[in-house]
Amino acid sequence: MLYAVCCILYVLKRLDESLASREKALEDVQVNLKDERQKLKSLETKLLDEEKMRRKLHNSIQELKGNIRVFCRVRPPVASEMANHGKVASMRFYGDDNDKMELSEEVSSTLGKVTTKSYPFSFDKVFPPESTQEECFEEISQLVQSALDGYNVCIFAYGQTGSGKTYTMEGPPGAGKGMIPRAVQQIYQVAQQLNESNWHYTMEGQFMEIYNETVHDLLGDCSNYGKIKHDIRHEKSGKTVITDMTSVLLDSPARVNTMLRKASQNRATGATNMNERSSRSHSVFMLRLNGDNPVTGERTTGVLNLIDLAGSERLAMSGSTGNRLKETQAINKSLSCLGDVISALLNNKEGGHIPYRNSKLTYLLQNSLGGNSKTLMFVNISPLSEHFNETLCSLRFATKVNSCRIGTARRLTR
Ligand SMILES: Nc1ncnc2c1ncn2[C@@H]1O[C@H](COP(=O)(O)OP(=O)(O)O)[C@@H](O)[C@H]1O
Ligand SMILES: [Mg+2]
Repeated sequence: MLYAVCCILYVLKRLDESLASREKALEDVQVNLKDERQKLKSLETKLLDEEKMRRKLHNSIQELKGNIRVFCRVRPPVASEMANHGKVASMRFYGDDNDKMELSEEVSSTLGKVTTKSYPFSFDKVFPPESTQEECFEEISQLVQSALDGYNVCIFAYGQTGSGKTYTMEGPPGAGKGMIPRAVQQIYQVAQQLNESNWHYTMEGQFMEIYNETVHDLLGDCSNYGKIKHDIRHEKSGKTVITDMTSVLLDSPARVNTMLRKASQNRATGATNMNERSSRSHSVFMLRLNGDNPVTGERTTGVLNLIDLAGSERLAMSGSTGNRLKETQAINKSLSCLGDVISALLNNKEGGHIPYRNSKLTYLLQNSLGGNSKTLMFVNISPLSEHFNETLCSLRFATKVNSCRIGTARRLTR
């Protein structure tokens, strides 16, 4: 009996000891857990701080880039040029940031001595012929984001006819699609994500053509093309209104294809030769983004303008008569006005005069080409030797634009 009691006492003691050691272990675990929780909390705070810091830095970078930026894009030779043994000009691409290029040509002196003349250029980015649409879009997607955040953005394609402006902006459907469909797709996706933080966006597109200093609606009824007079008005709020211009609600990315098709039908109606017409007019795709956050009461309006400019080739006035002469004058005037506006912005003292009114294009884009906006210009160039001189002209124009600084962009809230 005594033995049994002793045994039980012994077992109890062991149990007691084991319990104590478990309690101790539990205590240790709890201390550890507390430590870990504290660490987690401090990591979370750090993460929040870092996120804040990241946003701040991103914003500063965007503000610094709020000036006019210039990208140069060289297209590859197309099949027909290869078949005709088109000679490709000598070009070299370099720079740690892929921002430099050099053109060279052989020149022979009167004595027959052949030397190589080189022309170096530097831009914000240079896209060699093998660059994809995706790579180009990657570089502009931050600007598209800015339009969602409530900034006005202008993206131009400048260059001679056949240099790849329309390919860059619209591109063929599918993997080669251009900046317009990619921008709409990105906006649509980001807007859906922002929905979770109570932001509701609507996206409205207008597509117009400026031909001979007259604005045409590219999304209206084909039978009305050229029959309606559209006026441009700038409201006090900073909104630009074009009277009687069709507006399409882009509530799905697929709509952009229908829209581009419609624009191309309208262009065909207005032209006897579509390619010629598009090389002699500017197309402006204007996307308005209205954001509304009912929880915070914030509202934003951003405008993204994507502009496929008329061909920049120097057009001879001599020999042109009638309509041709009028067209030539209109193109020369509007492209030089764009250059003048940019120059004026470059040299602008506070409150100085900017000649927006000198052409329809600069007047239309007045609210997107100043201190409150972000501007990017693609200078498209052909790789062929036969276009060497036009290429040099385009690169020189671009260099002038590139040295333009237009101050810090400000966010527009309604
Ligand atoms: N990056 C590119 N990759 C492949 N083909 C291109 C590229 N850029 C232009 N092209 C082709 O070159 C030709 C001229 O381009 P296009 O965009 O019509 O010139 P632009 O609008 O400046 O007159 C078209 O056949 C187009 O498909
Ligand atoms: Mg074109």
